[in-house]
Amino acid sequence: MMPKKKILVTGGAGYIGSHACVELLQAGYDIVVADNLSNSKTESLARVQQITGKNLKFYQADIRDKAALDEIFDQNPIDTVIHFAGLKAVGESCSKPHLYYHNNVYGTLVLTEAMQAAGVKRLVFSSSATVYGESDTPQYAEDFPLGAINPYGRSKAMIEDILRDLSAADHINQDPSPWKIALLRYFNPIGAHASGLIGEDPNGIPNNLMPYISQVAVGKLAQLSVFGNDYPTPDGTGIRDYIHVVDLVKGHIKAIETLDSDAFGPGGCKAYNLGTGRGYSVLEMIQAFERVTGKAINYQIVGRRAGDLAECFANPKRALQELGWQAEKNLDDMVADTWNWQSKNPQGYGSLM
Ligand code: NAD
Ligand code: UFG
Repeated sequence: MMPKKKILVTGGAGYIGSHACVELLQAGYDIVVADNLSNSKTESLARVQQITGKNLKFYQADIRDKAALDEIFDQNPIDTVIHFAGLKAVGESCSKPHLYYHNNVYGTLVLTEAMQAAGVKRLVFSSSATVYGESDTPQYAEDFPLGAINPYGRSKAMIEDILRDLSAADHINQDPSPWKIALLRYFNPIGAHASGLIGEDPNGIPNNLMPYISQVAVGKLAQLSVFGNDYPTPDGTGIRDYIHVVDLVKGHIKAIETLDSDAFGPGGCKAYNLGTGRGYSVLEMIQAFERVTGKAINYQIVGRRAGDLAECFANPKRALQELGWQAEKNLDDMVADTWNWQSKNPQGYGSLM
């Protein structure tokens, strides 16, 4: 068997990144993590090593720091980069747009510059379903028009543009070793590793539904606000495509393998939806949580949240056909694993570093 490749995981200490580290190590990859710890703790990486019994190399580094990245590429024969590092709070992005464009867009410019200088031109990028614009149908395919509506979403859309342009330039320049880039558009990642050792640890009051519900269940928060019950959906509440984080990160391994294969072609930049293709409403999520955990969730219906769509779920066909990937875990798995993590770690990683 060929030795597995060395992967640089930016943002590897975060929620999705830490789960990716587990799957990568278990699949036999060597990994180097670069994270500035702005929204994470090294404890997550200690637990990754505990789960897998394997070591990884960690650099506390900011992706905007070119010298730090050059050193990482100098010291490690990196083959592919999985780029999770980024800020992700929609509300904060509206009040601090400069921070989001600087961190996410400028950060990716610096990263790709360092990659190019090191001759590393395989990249798997964390994009988001939020890049899609308004659509007549709620099931989004990769060729639907783009049109993000907040600075966070626009930062992802701009990065996608930059990466497509880099790839197009290779064609114009007839570059003999062109970029190979997978843009992975995540729908709504939830859940945690089955060990309950790693999971989502939001700073302050969660913005997203699932961490909010689980903090109500564990007694940290008093009541969930359901944002609107007058949407044109069967029960009036918003519908989303929730995907288990472990399924999601397995899609990244399939993407790395696909970039390596002849099927991807000599180079290119392509988007793939990572979702289940099935949506659940807010009320269905509450009911599932109550059924699986036996915990009652205290909630009240309030007004709609600005910027929310009624319904959004993935057309996941391209990922199945071209990456050979599809989600395997069901809603009960997602809820059970969220609760396993939350109940074992009511304060998340707490005061651990
Ligand atoms: P997270 O905040 O848990 O992880 C992001 C990690 O990146 C953190 O560890 C943070 O410290 C690090 N980071 C941020 N800026 C950095 C910088 N300049 N240099 C180095 N490290 C930096 O978030 P997550 O949920 O794991 O998300 C990972 C990626 O997936 C993000 O790019 C996010 O935008 C994207 N995404 C997330 C979701 C979601 O719902 N969680 C949905 C779609 C896309
Ligand atoms: N919701 C509530 N109450 C809450 C939180 C959410 O009713 O306290 C509802 C929302 O209105 C929505 C659904 O639950 O109908 C899901 O909301 P989330 O905030 O969990 O997820 P979003 O679909 O709004 O957005 C998430 C991420 C974005 C990302 C997008 C697509 O927050 O960053 O998925 O990937 F871009």
